[in-house]
Amino acid sequence: MQALETDRLTLRIWEPDDADFAFDLYSRWKVQRFIGAVPQVMVERSQAVERINAWRSKDHPVHAVWAVQLKASGQLAGTLLLKSIPASGESLPLRPSGDTEIGWHFHPDHWGHGYACEAAAAVLNYAFSSGVKRVVAVTAPGNVASQKVCRRIGMSHAGQTSEYYNSLCELFVVSAP
Ligand SMILES: CC(C)(COP(=O)(O)OP(=O)(O)OC[C@H]1O[C@@H](n2cnc3c(N)ncnc32)[C@H](O)[C@@H]1OP(=O)(O)O)[C@@H](O)C(=O)NCCC(=O)NCCS
Repeated sequence: MQALETDRLTLRIWEPDDADFAFDLYSRWKVQRFIGAVPQVMVERSQAVERINAWRSKDHPVHAVWAVQLKASGQLAGTLLLKSIPASGESLPLRPSGDTEIGWHFHPDHWGHGYACEAAAAVLNYAFSSGVKRVVAVTAPGNVASQKVCRRIGMSHAGQTSEYYNSLCELFVVSAP
């Protein structure tokens, strides 16, 4: 996977040593409450270890899951994802829709600084320069903070959809320039 740099951030591969941060991040209801059809928090550190292993073993020419690190302090701030988004359907696991999704999960200690936007803009740029033609983001209808990130990075609201994840979501889209 390709590491990315912005003014204030490094986006890099998740390391096994990041498990404490990942567990702290994903064990918070404040972070998880809008994620997934049935939001759930992590309850054991081993879940964070498993998640990091899965992210590290992803082998795709463009899709990736990055750990976002603050250059100034070296602290981890969150996650940026570029991935295949599953279509709604009956079969489990859900089948890929063929669309590419961007997503972000940040630690509440690092909200309100523009880090999610800065990291997401870099990932969009990387996706388009790698040949991706269109990127979607989906948020829970109540997830206003995430919808603001979508708009700030130039995504357009395309209404509500039930096309993905067997959930009713707000859909945002952006096409390659
Ligand atoms: C969604 C989420 C990443 C948004 O985080 P965020 O810190 O609000 O997002 P941004 O990076 O865009 O930061 C923007 C905020 O920083 C402020 N800010 C401060 N300095 C800034 C700077 N240099 N540049 C830009 N914004 C700055 C902005 O004013 C803005 O605050 P406002 O929304 O009160 O106006 C965060 O709420 C989160 O991780 N939630 C839990 C996980 C989740 O729901 N993920 C999305 C699933 S769809």
